[in-house]
Amino acid sequence: MIDPKEIDLILGFIQQSIINTDLKKITISGPIESNDLKRIACRPVVIKQQLRYQIVYSYQTKDITKNYSSQELHTVVRDHLSHNFKNISVIRINDTGQYEPKKKKFLTSKNKKKIESSLEHDKVKRFIIPQDRPFLSSLGIVTSNQKVSKSKLSKYKQINRFIEALAPEIQAAGLQGQYKLVDMGSGKGYLTFALHDYLLHSLGHQPRTVGIELRPDLVDFCNRSATALGYKHLAFKTTDIADYTEKMDILMSLHACDTATDDSIAKGIRSNARLIICSPCCHKEIRSQLKPKDALDPIHGILRERLSELITDQLRSLLMELHGYKVKMMEFISTEHTPKNLLIIATRRTKKTDTKLIQDKIQELKDLYGIQKQQLETLLSLAK
Ligand SMILES: C[S@@+](CC[C@H](N)C(=O)[O-])C[C@H]1O[C@@H](n2cnc3c(N)ncnc32)[C@H](O)[C@@H]1O
Repeated sequence: MIDPKEIDLILGFIQQSIINTDLKKITISGPIESNDLKRIACRPVVIKQQLRYQIVYSYQTKDITKNYSSQELHTVVRDHLSHNFKNISVIRINDTGQYEPKKKKFLTSKNKKKIESSLEHDKVKRFIIPQDRPFLSSLGIVTSNQKVSKSKLSKYKQINRFIEALAPEIQAAGLQGQYKLVDMGSGKGYLTFALHDYLLHSLGHQPRTVGIELRPDLVDFCNRSATALGYKHLAFKTTDIADYTEKMDILMSLHACDTATDDSIAKGIRSNARLIICSPCCHKEIRSQLKPKDALDPIHGILRERLSELITDQLRSLLMELHGYKVKMMEFISTEHTPKNLLIIATRRTKKTDTKLIQDKIQELKDLYGIQKQQLETLLSLAK
């Protein structure tokens, strides 16, 4: 066990490097007792434009990755040095601090060579889903020489942005252990595999994941890949979203066409899912209903399509709020890759919702644009 005064010195050294943003790496090693947890490594990362500290806990048989604020990092370091480990090294750009167990002292020395640690530089290299995750090669994103295929680079970036956006929401939703994740309209399964793998290997959860897809060829491909990769609890089914009846804890539906997004959201709400994640696709349903006709006449068809997207997604968001969800929206990938880049993340609230206020907002929006019928609203009112 390290003396509390030395721990304070170590934390001071870390704090200084947080202020100076020159931290490169922290390694905590040398477990005091024979322990399943062998080593802890930490490095700064940028997630959603915020500086976080990514810790990899290396166990005998698995690695678990978690992201922390600087305050949380202090608590983690203090806890482990007080109870579990006897070594720590803190590498900064110009110097390194190392605890010497024999001298019982934390000593610092200048680095022989300055270590490059521009976060901008690291940002390019550091992805939340490392290139060596086996599912990336099975899905053809990484080639046989372990490089991201040029033609799949934007897909790889999309996967990473998606997981980066979701990671804090999964933690905030309090999901742990065993739970069910359903991906509706899973397509070739890129994001299904990515989320399943992240939950399983990085967070140490035990997700039971199902991908729902109309096309049997894609379902077949995904099931073969899941079996080859040894995922015991990842399976795909050829089913229409509307016919799926099982309950779920996380609903995800990314780029499912037109009202298939509404069918999916309705299933998530009826399941009382903790998390609903969707990225809407085309929106045909309300376009022909839009009013007033005179005001819309001068508007180009493409822009009318955009207008119907905006109104549909705003209505969906309000309907989720009405049914007890807190809704966040973000753009999760640059429009250079796809214009369909809106990500809606809804987390089930624990507090009661002011339904009257939200109902009024929904009515105002519908009256303003003359909306008579919207699929999600219809499905939810049928379910009452
Ligand atoms: C644009 S792809 C998106 C695939 C994947 N979610 C992604 O974002 O990479 C939409 C997929 O949803 C499937 N799909 C559309 N409507 C569906 C429905 N009603 N039931 C099941 N799958 C559906 C399509 O076959 C297609 O593979």
